[in-house]
Amino acid sequence: MESDLIIKQNRIEIHSHLEKTYSSNIALDALRGLTAKQKYIPSKYFYDSRGSKLFDRICCLPEYYPTRTEMSILEYAAGKIMKSFDKGDIVELGSGANHKIRLLLEALHESRLPDYRYVPVDVSESALMSASEELLEIYPDLEIYGIVADFTCHMNAIPADRPRLIIFLGSTIGNFNESDRQEFLRLLARCMKPEDRALIGFDMIKPRETLEAAYNDSQGVTSAFNKNVLNVLNRELNAEFDPARFAHVAYYNEARGRVEMHLQAKQDMEVNVNDLELTVEFNKDETIHTEICSKFSREDILKMSADAGLEIKQWFFDSKGWFSLAELVLID
Ligand code: SAH
Ligand code: AVI
Repeated sequence: MESDLIIKQNRIEIHSHLEKTYSSNIALDALRGLTAKQKYIPSKYFYDSRGSKLFDRICCLPEYYPTRTEMSILEYAAGKIMKSFDKGDIVELGSGANHKIRLLLEALHESRLPDYRYVPVDVSESALMSASEELLEIYPDLEIYGIVADFTCHMNAIPADRPRLIIFLGSTIGNFNESDRQEFLRLLARCMKPEDRALIGFDMIKPRETLEAAYNDSQGVTSAFNKNVLNVLNRELNAEFDPARFAHVAYYNEARGRVEMHLQAKQDMEVNVNDLELTVEFNKDETIHTEICSKFSREDILKMSADAGLEIKQWFFDSKGWFSLAELVLID
């Protein structure tokens, strides 16, 4: 698959598969989303360099339980997960700041001298670069093959010549809608070999108050993260959104088992998106749907894994059952 080499040094090599496609994709996605009846913007556009930094701040907020809960699971489960890892690639989809990988690497280094390579895959070049540099400082012998790419369409850019542990943490899988999620899992299963494993983090269904607090933090960081997508549109498409004229709205849609994030127009307005030669009309209170954050039951996870041709080999939970990490392999 064609890619641009961003950096190749001693133990690190980073390729981008986005360089040639990002501008045309955001134009097409914005055109589709902003002219739909329920306006929407795909959530992958949150993650420019500012968005990635805001997400890192979200991870440390007292209300945002998913990060610390998943970390608490990794702390006790990492040894069990890495026990059977002899050699190969640890591929991390949506790696972000990759704090979590360190817990898996620690477990690996504790038991033996491993023969492996770390393959982070993320749409955010800035997050991938800085996280890789940090990791190399901690593990100077680590080999990194980074891929700046969209995991919904560049799965075949990920090397598959060694056994792989493919990790997808943070419940980023919850950011797909149902059909895209199933499609993604099927695609993942199709590119897995019998010796490969996937480790997926799922945020579980829990009381509404806990869920809504996590996406409406008192410091307003999630609000800034949500509104930042408008800055991305302004920069990338020469649009004229005024983020101050939109309110951050996040609520639990119980019937659909998901938190939804929206940007709600505070007044009637028209917004030019100059590169698309488009004027978008908003009525007061109308929203742009910016993110789906699905929450899962055990039955959901069993069913969607089986539908994709995957079975659970090990399954780890925290003590409250708020989050789970499922290790998946191909069904025999
Ligand atoms: N795995 C980390 C980060 C989760 S945030 C954690 O568990 O905390 C989601 C990450 O996925 C971000 O770094 C974002 O840039 C990346 N991401 C979102 N959509 C993506 C896509 N379609 N392709 C590749 N990366 C994506
Ligand atoms: C990356 N993803 C799993 C986060 C979530 O909780 O769905 C993104 C996020 N949106 C608002 N806060 C965090």
